[in-house]
Amino acid sequence: MTFDQIIQFRRSNRKFDPNQPIPADVVEKALEHATLAPNSSNMQLWEFHWVRDEEKKKKLIHACLNQSAAKTAQELVVIVTRRDKWRQRVQWHKNLILKDAERIGRDAKSIRMRLVYYTKLMPFSYMNDGLGILGLYRRLLSFCIGLFRPIYRAEGHTQQRITVHKSAALAAENFMLSMASEEFHTCPMEGFDANRVKKILGLPLRAEINMVIGCGKGEEHGFWGPRRRLPAEEVIIKH
Ligand SMILES: Cc1cc2nc3c(=O)[nH]c(=O)nc-3n(C[C@H](O)[C@H](O)[C@H](O)COP(=O)(O)O)c2cc1C
Repeated sequence: MTFDQIIQFRRSNRKFDPNQPIPADVVEKALEHATLAPNSSNMQLWEFHWVRDEEKKKKLIHACLNQSAAKTAQELVVIVTRRDKWRQRVQWHKNLILKDAERIGRDAKSIRMRLVYYTKLMPFSYMNDGLGILGLYRRLLSFCIGLFRPIYRAEGHTQQRITVHKSAALAAENFMLSMASEEFHTCPMEGFDANRVKKILGLPLRAEINMVIGCGKGEEHGFWGPRRRLPAEEVIIKH
């Protein structure tokens, strides 16, 4: 398929053919494509939970409010944000940088800049305290500096959550387009009980469910009518 055909093919389908399973390698490849999505500072604060265990699947369908897109799905994938894992990701980057430093020298400008970015700026952006004081400090600092020059406005929990969800949603789209390229349909879902989904997957408090994606060969009546979009001039604004 051409890229345009893949985009046109990807439509949310809510009724998947029970007789058409998805080869495992198609899902594996789509998951790999998901991990290649652009993401904020390459922190990769996400996880992709492919739920195959029948018992867990049943519970997940229930937690997805028994939606048809979940109930009839051949495969279910949950996109999860993990901003709580920022320390591990910083360490991962630090190890890579130190390895590169062995090759090109620790004093190389690129090494120094990357070290500052991942060992100072990332902790500054993701660190939190129970009272929200750090968030307030970041907001105040960027407000003051922002009076004089453009500045990235680091804030508190809300902004961190938006950041990780943006990246996770891009990964979800990569996943769905990859499935579409193999002629399988998907349906992204936000209609679920997040607390229950987290419990089923054994996730900690700070992890969040971005989307649950039902996958399979979509049936014709699984499309809810024609694809409708607003007129382009209403949403595409040229400046
Ligand atoms: C974040 C998000 C959440 C969604 N949640 C649901 C859902 O819970 N149930 C459902 O049937 N469709 C859900 N959808 C699918 C949308 O209804 C669908 O994408 C939209 O109507 C446009 O249709 P299309 O995907 O066929 O282009 C969701 C889509 C997104 C992006």
